[in-house]
Amino acid sequence: MDILGAATTQARPQYSVIITPESGSPLPVMPRTELEIGFGNGEFTVQYARMNPDVLIYGVEISQACVLRCARRADGLNNLRIINTDARYMLRELFGDETLQRIFMQFPCPWSKNADAHRRVTAKDFSDGLASVLKVSGVFEMLSDDEAYSHEVLDVLGRHEALEALAFEVSPHRDITTKYERKWLSEGRNIYRVTFRKTRAFTVSRRTSQDMHIKITHGITQQDIEALRNATGKGTKSFWKFGRVFAGTDGEGRYLLETLTSDDEFEQKFYISISPKDEGSIIRLDKTADAFLTPAVRSAIEDVAGRLA
Ligand SMILES: C[S@@+](CC[C@H](N)C(=O)[O-])C[C@H]1O[C@@H](n2cnc3c(N)ncnc32)[C@H](O)[C@@H]1O
Repeated sequence: MDILGAATTQARPQYSVIITPESGSPLPVMPRTELEIGFGNGEFTVQYARMNPDVLIYGVEISQACVLRCARRADGLNNLRIINTDARYMLRELFGDETLQRIFMQFPCPWSKNADAHRRVTAKDFSDGLASVLKVSGVFEMLSDDEAYSHEVLDVLGRHEALEALAFEVSPHRDITTKYERKWLSEGRNIYRVTFRKTRAFTVSRRTSQDMHIKITHGITQQDIEALRNATGKGTKSFWKFGRVFAGTDGEGRYLLETLTSDDEFEQKFYISISPKDEGSIIRLDKTADAFLTPAVRSAIEDVAGRLA
């Protein structure tokens, strides 16, 4: 294997239930498709998928360890797909408008500090995403052990122009429960379920796009690319930084530039590829990258082209 191959080899075990969506392409859906955000160890998700074989269920979870734990439990299930990413930023990028029948969120972190308000389900960006991907009459259901937070969700989402509050329930009976929920209830404490229905069509703009490449009209040397190491750039809500450079060993002048980006705290690490084309060079996201073409990624590619040109 040449050094480019070594740089991009993924060490992740493969489970068919774990999927890697493509940038700028919404995920396929069935007539009944539902989503769980932040599924933890996947106990609820897997049991729910088993009990509802006619429903396609997606799960989005930010922790890779949780994704692997859920994948191990999900053996043999073909109506469950799980994705390791940040639902806060990616919800609207992963799904088209009016595609989901139901969205569950169980025991999300209430993010009680003011500085973390943009991470809450009540943040405008996130609630607009929810409202766009739900079908009209589709339902969003949030479960929490925090009464004050549940009231805040009821109040804020209940005022969203495309959502209406359906119910605020205290310790409702549920056919499937999670380990944490059982322990909490067995201690005599309450849980709160807040449910909303989408009342009318609503859309939001998407921020990720499909393939992007920039052509520059002259060849590039390794020295040119090494000069980018540790360079940084910044946009309104975006940041990027370049790292190590890997050169192909086949002598064809192909390079990979390690890159870190952040869009509104949604972080991605990937390689930008620089390869010869005709008399010049093509700069693009490396094909092996799982990254989404967010504004920060596009800016990083433009920055490489600008600095090399
Ligand atoms: C308190 S745990 C609850 C887990 C599970 N729902 C349950 O009831 O047992 C919150 C979960 O949300 C996940 N999470 C937090 N922020 C997230 C985000 N932005 N996108 C996706 N998952 C997230 C965490 O990794 C964690 O697994």
